[in-house]
Amino acid sequence: MFSFTREEDIKKSERMTAVVHDREVVIFYHRGEYHAMDIRCYHSGGPLHLGEIEEFDGRPCIVCPWHKYKITLATGEGLYQSINPKDPSAKPKWCSKGIKQRIHTVTVDNGNIYVTLSNEPFKCDSDFYATGVFKVIQSSS
Ligand code: FES
Repeated sequence: MFSFTREEDIKKSERMTAVVHDREVVIFYHRGEYHAMDIRCYHSGGPLHLGEIEEFDGRPCIVCPWHKYKITLATGEGLYQSINPKDPSAKPKWCSKGIKQRIHTVTVDNGNIYVTLSNEPFKCDSDFYATGVFKVIQSSS
């Protein structure tokens, strides 16, 4: 568990970045909830802390500033729209590619924000950009 910041600070800024045990994460404060995830987008490593939050299908998502991929804040799923080519009149439908961005746990204790890294034993696409030569945006800027 890593102490991130004070609650009142992130409520003002609505997002913050930090390096937690060598892994760079972003925390969002959105509509009264905290969400933490790997900072680099699973697609090509885009900087999610610079993206906009929008709702798709009623689910708040961070929209990657590089190629506009949509990632749900709560679960890290990649969303896309699909249409049935055999029914061109059908409305496009939002679908999930599954969990693509690793989500971490945010805990609030006595006004302090803590982040606990996910140790879920599955291979998440965002892991690629959270390790090795891609990690830590802050050191390359
Ligand atoms: Fe995020 Fe391509 S790097 S959408």
